[in-house]
Amino acid sequence: MKTYKFKCVDSTNTVAKQLAREGADEGTLVTADRQDAGRGRLGRNFFSPDGGLYMSLLLRPEFSAADARLITTAAAVAVCRVLERKKGNCFSIKWVNDIYKDGRKVCGILTESAPSPGGKLEWAILGIGINLFPTCPVPSELESILGFAFDKEDEVDKTALAEEIRDEFFLLYPTLCERTFAAEYRDRMFLTGKRVSVIRDDKEIPALVKGTDNDLRLLVEYADGTQDALGAGEVSIRL
Ligand code: BTN
Repeated sequence: MKTYKFKCVDSTNTVAKQLAREGADEGTLVTADRQDAGRGRLGRNFFSPDGGLYMSLLLRPEFSAADARLITTAAAVAVCRVLERKKGNCFSIKWVNDIYKDGRKVCGILTESAPSPGGKLEWAILGIGINLFPTCPVPSELESILGFAFDKEDEVDKTALAEEIRDEFFLLYPTLCERTFAAEYRDRMFLTGKRVSVIRDDKEIPALVKGTDNDLRLLVEYADGTQDALGAGEVSIRL
């Protein structure tokens, strides 16, 4: 499996998409030390200075587009497993795509895909951004949220780390649709039982998190007792 390493790109997801369109194989990995236009979920920017690992993995899934959402959740489990091997048992998942350490976000995941006829996918790009070390001032709006996966004295080989995450993800990928990783995702998820705000169309609705359903949609209960199953494409959650 081929790895393309860059010092700086606009977005590794964009580079990987281009490779996908040119016919690159599943497993192709793109990494960068910095991104000038890193993307997050719901059209947000992803702060991507030096000191992070930004990686995108090209997939050519056999399963239906409806199951593509499982790529992000399985990847969250794979990233936690790898980071824990390096740093110990201190990483948890904030539904749906964020990894936290000590109450701060250290990793975000964004999967983008292209549909093909028949409800399948031409390709999917699994993008993972990990804040490894602090190297520059953090924008004020991120100061209270952003954390780092490693300590400054740690030595990290970024390419080896990216390839270990790729390999760990590929252990889960063949049985993705059987949701073999779902129990582990739930165990690692720290929102269950918490009061949150559901943010949809710029409105904030208070809710209690009850857990997740079989598709790992977030089950919430609103103040009036009604329940909802939230898909990742629609909403974000504030603690
Ligand atoms: C999020 O926090 O909403 C998801 C962030 C995903 C960031 C990664 S970094 C590598 C890849 N390239 C991008 O532009 N985005 C993803």
